[in-house]
Amino acid sequence: MTLNLKKNISLRDKHTFRLNARAAYFISFSSTQEIFMYLEDKALYSHPFFILGSGSNCVFTKDFEGVILQPAIRGIQKIQENDAYVWLRVGAGENWDSFVAYAVEHNYGGIENLSYIPGNVGAAPIQNIGAYGIEVKDSIEKVEGIHINKKESITYNKNDCHFAYRTSIFKEALSNKIIITNVTFRLAKQHRLITDYTGVKEELKKYNEITLQTLRKAIINIRQRKLPDPAVIPNAGSFFKNPIVSKEKVRALKNSYPLLPIFVHSEREEKVSAAWLIEQCGFKGQRIGNIGVSENHALVLVNYGNGHAQDLRELIIAIQKSVEKTFGLHLEPEVNII
Ligand code: EPU
Repeated sequence: MTLNLKKNISLRDKHTFRLNARAAYFISFSSTQEIFMYLEDKALYSHPFFILGSGSNCVFTKDFEGVILQPAIRGIQKIQENDAYVWLRVGAGENWDSFVAYAVEHNYGGIENLSYIPGNVGAAPIQNIGAYGIEVKDSIEKVEGIHINKKESITYNKNDCHFAYRTSIFKEALSNKIIITNVTFRLAKQHRLITDYTGVKEELKKYNEITLQTLRKAIINIRQRKLPDPAVIPNAGSFFKNPIVSKEKVRALKNSYPLLPIFVHSEREEKVSAAWLIEQCGFKGQRIGNIGVSENHALVLVNYGNGHAQDLRELIIAIQKSVEKTFGLHLEPEVNII
């Protein structure tokens, strides 16, 4: 077995925002044994490292003088089944949407609303991907990984993962410490479809019946219509998180801005639409150099080609300052800026 190691490699094709940056070393792992080989390689292990999924939620703004580690472990294994559920253990390097397609084809419910989200299976728990009323945490049973400093395999049960809105322990306390190798999902054989998110019900009217399959199609249609395709216009999906705001503050904002879209979050807080805030500040379709705010969706920043990191930094700051000044709310990036 040899390590799949590349040196002085361009990162442009390794992240969907496609800025120009290079990495001194890049290793793609197709097995856990290869990860242990890397951990035992004193020369490679002495460099700083960064763990990369498929690059759909991170932006490289400068060269990386270390090792980029990319788990590419494949496979979907049925490990358990009863009348109600099936347990699937999936390699971190499987494409997320191909896995959703597999689940929907087999009539396993729970992740259909997460159709067409870019990225790999291993990245899904890190930021607890969510869309159209569902978060992936509700279908995750456990996450397996390798702790880089401890050089050992560790399994995290759902409760150890500290899942919350667009975050988990893997993005906080364990950030850049664990190479996720496999994720086990528990999917339902009988399943209540969640169709009440704005836009989903209307889209479903095009179909004669509401099934896992038509719901997946409807979600794909909505996403294709609203979100720019990274294969056509480089982007990293939602660039900022929707700010979580106390109900008190939301009430005050609603007095001044009755149209402000809000979503249920918890007993004391609500989620405010960052896209709406950005659009109200006049940024939709605006650009600095070749970096811009998508014309279709104000939460998505795009690279029109050969965009510069400096322009991206300026645009982020301009958006944050403007939203802060107008609404008194801070927008926190949702993407990982390196
Ligand atoms: N809106 C605007 N202007 C726009 C776009 C949207 O004002 O240009 C307003 C609309 O009023 C709309 C509201 O914003 O009702 C919410 O828009 P949308 O339904 O598109 O959802 P979002 O809150 O902007 C979140 C996720 C998306 C996910 C969608 C659908 C975050 C940070 N983003 O976006 O996830 O697909 O909901 O559930 O939570 C991603 O994480 O990369 C991502 C795309």
